[in-house]
Amino acid sequence: MIIAVDGPAASGKGTIAKALAAYFDLPMLDTGLLYRAVGLNLLRSGQDPADEAAAVTACSFADDIMADPAIRSEAVGQAASQASAHPAVRAALLKRQRDFAKQAGGAVLDGRDIGTVIAPDADAKLFVTASPEARANRRAKEEGGVSFDAILADIRARDERDSGRGAAPLRQAEDADLLDTTDLTIDAAVQRAIALVEARIRR
Ligand code: CDP
Repeated sequence: MIIAVDGPAASGKGTIAKALAAYFDLPMLDTGLLYRAVGLNLLRSGQDPADEAAAVTACSFADDIMADPAIRSEAVGQAASQASAHPAVRAALLKRQRDFAKQAGGAVLDGRDIGTVIAPDADAKLFVTASPEARANRRAKEEGGVSFDAILADIRARDERDSGRGAAPLRQAEDADLLDTTDLTIDAAVQRAIALVEARIRR
């Protein structure tokens, strides 16, 4: 069984994907980490994420970069968002994601284009959203010390770039279930996600 979880930054998709993986006993891939690895690689070598050739070269990274705490910063998120708009970057990371999705026994993948591009034949697809304000509030709590307004501006910039790009833009697949977590606790969102997936696989 393949479960695709897509959605914008801080929508809760990562937490939901992890909970689904535990509940259905499936391996999970956070595909944002692949793009973040490219972003971190570029920033560390002083290169511009807008430079397509440099971004493609940055796709050859050692796996241990994905465990580096620096990969979680918003600066790396923005660099990842810029680098991920290059079609050649998406192509370079495609096989790794498809292979993970197609492994025997199934998998959970979370990202922006899992239901639309990486695993269009997934058994269940969730599109997890929340209002920009709710998402900025969550990030503000995680990141303590950064102003709410700055976080909200970053979230809006990233939403616009991710949704507006030509290559695999962030959008809900036609056959995905929408899960709006704006007014849900984590537990309630996870319960709802499990119920939606179970309803899909029973069909
Ligand atoms: O956790 P957060 O939502 O902040 O971001 P992420 O999932 O770690 O992804 C970082 C950036 O990588 C996103 O803003 C996207 O631009 C890009 N990305 C993508 O293009 N496709 C994916 N499947 C996953 C991430």
